[in-house]
Amino acid sequence: MNQTPITMAICGFGSRGKDAYASYSHFFPDQMKVVAVADPDPEKRRAAQEEYGVSPELCFQTGEELLARPQLADVLVIATQDSQHICYAVPALRKGYHLLLEKPISPSLAECLQLKEEAHRQGRIVMVCHVLRYTQFYQKVYDLLRQNAIGRLQTLEATENVAYWHYAHSYVRGNWRRSEESSPLILAKSCHDMDILRWLAGAPCLRLSSYGSLDWFKAENAPDPKATRCLDGCSCKETCPYDCEKIYITNPKSGIRSIHEGWPCNVLVNNPTEESLYEAMKTGPYGRCVYRCDNDVADHQTVQMEFEGGITAAFVLSAFTENCYRTIRATGSAGELEGNLEENKIYLRLFGQPEQVLTLDPVDDRFAGHGGGDSRMVAALCQLLREGGDQALTSVDESVESHVMAMAAEYSRLHHGENVELADFIRKAN
Ligand SMILES: NC(=O)c1ccc[n+]([C@@H]2O[C@H](COP(=O)([O-])OP(=O)(O)OC[C@H]3O[C@@H](n4cnc5c(N)ncnc54)[C@H](O)[C@@H]3O)[C@@H](O)[C@H]2O)c1
Repeated sequence: MNQTPITMAICGFGSRGKDAYASYSHFFPDQMKVVAVADPDPEKRRAAQEEYGVSPELCFQTGEELLARPQLADVLVIATQDSQHICYAVPALRKGYHLLLEKPISPSLAECLQLKEEAHRQGRIVMVCHVLRYTQFYQKVYDLLRQNAIGRLQTLEATENVAYWHYAHSYVRGNWRRSEESSPLILAKSCHDMDILRWLAGAPCLRLSSYGSLDWFKAENAPDPKATRCLDGCSCKETCPYDCEKIYITNPKSGIRSIHEGWPCNVLVNNPTEESLYEAMKTGPYGRCVYRCDNDVADHQTVQMEFEGGITAAFVLSAFTENCYRTIRATGSAGELEGNLEENKIYLRLFGQPEQVLTLDPVDDRFAGHGGGDSRMVAALCQLLREGGDQALTSVDESVESHVMAMAAEYSRLHHGENVELADFIRKAN
C-alpha cells in the first residue's frame, strides 16, 4: 500500500537513536522516514547522511540547534542520555512535535510530572520507550491475566538478569555507572520492569520497600592489588570474567569476533575493528579494572510491592547472571503462569489440568531488539499517528507511574528498606 511515511527527527544518533529506531526506516520506508538528526559526533552525522539520506543542512550538532529551527518532522525521537531528555522534550512539544521519548523520562520526579502536564497542555502524543509492553510475550501475558485465565490475580514475580558482562559494560565502566550523572540502576534499567508489573497488575502500586547495594565492584574486592587497567599487566587477567579483552574481543555474546560491529563494541568506537577496540581499551573507560572505577550504582536489588486490590509483587535484579533475560510468574485463584522473554514461551498451569505451553511466533532477527519490542513500538507509533486514536500504550501518564515506583524503590533502598507510600512520595515531589 502506498502511503506517506511519518517523518522523524532524531536527537541523539547513538545506540538507540540510530541502531534501534532509525534502522526501522530501512525495512519499512513507506512507514517512517528520518529527515533530521542532531548529534555532536561528526561520524554519526555522516552516517545519517550516508545511510539514511538526511540532507547535510538538517544534520545538527545539538538538540538545541535542531529545536531552534521551525518544526522539521511529525515526531522528535529523543535518545540522548538520561539527564538530557526533558531539556528537549518540553521545547519540542511547544514547537508542535509528537515525541518518541527514551526512558527514563527524567531522573527527577518533578520533571516527569512537568512533562506530563506539558503533553496535556499541548495535546501531543508522547510515547515513552517502555518497549517491553509491545512484545508479543508480555502482551500475551497481559491478555491472559485480563481474561482471568488463572482466576483472580494474587501475586507477580519478576526477575531481571542483567548478565555479568552487560552490567560491567554499562553500569561499572559505562554511562550508567553513577547515579548522579545518569540514574540509579532501578530507574535506568528497571523502570521497564516496574512498568510491566504495574501494567500486568492492572492496578496502581500503593506502597513498596526495597533492599540492595553495590557489593562487588569495589576496590576491596580487586584480585590484583595494584592493576587499574586490564591490559596494563593485571596478574589476574586470565581468570577474571570481567577482563575487557574477554568482553569486547572473545566473548561469543559481546565480543567483536562473534557480534562484529554492533553493540556493545560500537559504544567504544564507531565502526569497531579489533585494532581500534584494543586502542580504546588501552586508554579509554572500557579498559578500566572493574574494581577500580568510579561507579556507585547498586549491583543487586529487590523490591516488594503492594497494588490496589491486594495484589503483591516481588522483583529481583542482579548483575551476577550468565545470561541476559527477564522472567515473569503470576499466580491466581485458578492457576499459575510463567515464562521467560528470551525463550518466548509461556507455561500455563490451571490447577488439576495438564500444563499448556504457549509458543509465540519467533522474533525476526532483524527486529529482535528487546524481544521484538523495539520495532513493534515504532510500528505502533506510526499507526497511531496515521490512524489517530487514544494515547499511546506507553503514554507519559502511564509511564510516570513506573518512574515513581523506581524512584521510591531507590529511596527505600537508601533508607534500609523503609516502607514508602507512593501517594506521599508524589505529594512531596510536587
Ligand atoms: N528503551 C530501552 O530499552 C533503552 C535501552 C537502552 C538505553 N535506553 C536509553 O536511551 C537513551 C540513549 O541511550 P544510548 O545507549 O543510545 O546512548 P548513546 O550514548 O549511544 O547515545 C546518545 C547520543 O546522544 C548524543 N548526544 C550527546 N549530547 C547531545 C546533544 N546535546 N544533542 C544531541 N545529541 C547529543 C551522543 O553523541 C550519542 O550519540 C538513554 O537515556 C538510555 O537510558 C533505553
